[in-house]
Amino acid sequence: MKVTIFGSGYVGLVTGACLAEVGNEVVCMDVDRPKIEQLNKGKIPIYEPDLDRLVSRNAEAGRLTFTSDPAEAVGHGLFQFIAVGTPPDQDGSADLQYVLAVAQTIAEHMTDYRIVVDKSTVPVGTADKVRERIRSVLGRRGTHLQFDVVSNPEFLKEGAAIDDFMKPDRIVVGTDNPRTTELLRVLYAPFNRNHDRLIAMDIRSAELTKYAANAMLATKISFMNELANLAERVGADIEQVRNGIGSDSRIGYSFIYPGCGYGGSCFPKDVSALERTAMEVGYDAMLLRSVQGVNRRQKQVLFDKISGHFDGDLKGRTIAVWGLAFKPNTDDMRDAPSRVLMEALWEAGAKVRAYDPVAEKEAHRIYGDRADLCLCDNADAALEGADALALVTEWSVFRSPDFDQVKRLLKGPVIFDGRNIYDPEYLTERGFRYYGIGRGRSATDS
Ligand SMILES: NC(=O)c1ccc[n+]([C@@H]2O[C@H](COP(=O)([O-])OP(=O)(O)OC[C@H]3O[C@@H](n4cnc5c(N)ncnc54)[C@H](O)[C@@H]3O)[C@@H](O)[C@H]2O)c1
Repeated sequence: MKVTIFGSGYVGLVTGACLAEVGNEVVCMDVDRPKIEQLNKGKIPIYEPDLDRLVSRNAEAGRLTFTSDPAEAVGHGLFQFIAVGTPPDQDGSADLQYVLAVAQTIAEHMTDYRIVVDKSTVPVGTADKVRERIRSVLGRRGTHLQFDVVSNPEFLKEGAAIDDFMKPDRIVVGTDNPRTTELLRVLYAPFNRNHDRLIAMDIRSAELTKYAANAMLATKISFMNELANLAERVGADIEQVRNGIGSDSRIGYSFIYPGCGYGGSCFPKDVSALERTAMEVGYDAMLLRSVQGVNRRQKQVLFDKISGHFDGDLKGRTIAVWGLAFKPNTDDMRDAPSRVLMEALWEAGAKVRAYDPVAEKEAHRIYGDRADLCLCDNADAALEGADALALVTEWSVFRSPDFDQVKRLLKGPVIFDGRNIYDPEYLTERGFRYYGIGRGRSATDS
């Protein structure tokens, strides 16, 4: 089938490459010309495991091409996927300007029936806005071309995006036209073989499903972080509590890891946008507001622990930071806890020596050259001469370091473990001062 994808970011590029991999002819369109030039030279602008090989294989086979030409893009695909960003607006709602710009482009250039598939995460009612925009432009053009608008939210996880797309837990399709559902069923058939994962529903429910999923996951994290803070104050160990509750099949083990807060391109903005949607319809979403409040506070916890350890005097101190990306296996630093920590450290007069296996370039793009940030080439280099180590992203390379070497390189043997990946007793025995998240008085005050 012929498919056009607007937006060649984490979602658009993965969607395009995966659809091409199963035999479709895919055109990826992006308004960012340098990005398209890079892609045409075989360079992938983002880090996503195995995406480079998938893209180059399909580009070489001629099934995946890249363009900035709107007429070419709209002329190509029966399916016109919208996979552009929906960043938070100033009031916390989702900014739909990029989505509606794509709708406008499609309407300006279409000469035949098109299925417009909204894959971006968008508030309930956006499909109506996309439809209205297309209709009004077509009206101005004096044409009466047919089109359908579909909601097909994406659930992939950065770091495992290809696997998630190839073997999805579910494919949500929101339509008001059974024929479109059937066409999408055909498009998704190669990813839907093991058992039927396609869940067809009405458009508004599909739009809300995506927000509901992210809000639920964010809620689980904030719940555990709240409990972790409580555990610390009552002398309990949240890791033991996690085991204790995860064993209940109604609760389960996933997404109940305490840590230094959630970040990334989705949870923060999606929970905020959902709360905003509630507000617009006169509903006070108290739980969603609290989830965000708990997370904001949690992102300060590492800094508070560091500051507390040094009696509030961080001037002239150097902190080694392991992990900058908001989670392992991505270079994405949008709303990452590392940013809150580093900015607070700088504010307090401290310097940062940071290492991340892939996000160094992104960190440099965000912060540029500054005297209080040294972006190091490896984990050991970040430790050299630092007063303490803060583990922020649980990359596997950080999981079992040579602690003797860590101790030799650090000026002071202090570890702030923002992801609870280390064993407090083991480190305490080796002469470290260990601070975890919610690991009881003995652990945090060791
Ligand atoms: N990143 C994720 O893990 C993830 C997962 C599920 C859903 N989503 C949702 O998918 C959407 C895209 O997210 P992303 O992380 O891929 O964003 P991104 O910022 O990585 O990429 C968006 C791309 O869209 C391009 N763009 C903007 N306006 C355009 C236009 N008019 N025409 C063509 N291209 C245009 C930008 O140049 C950019 O390359 C968002 O709504 C996001 O919430 C993201």
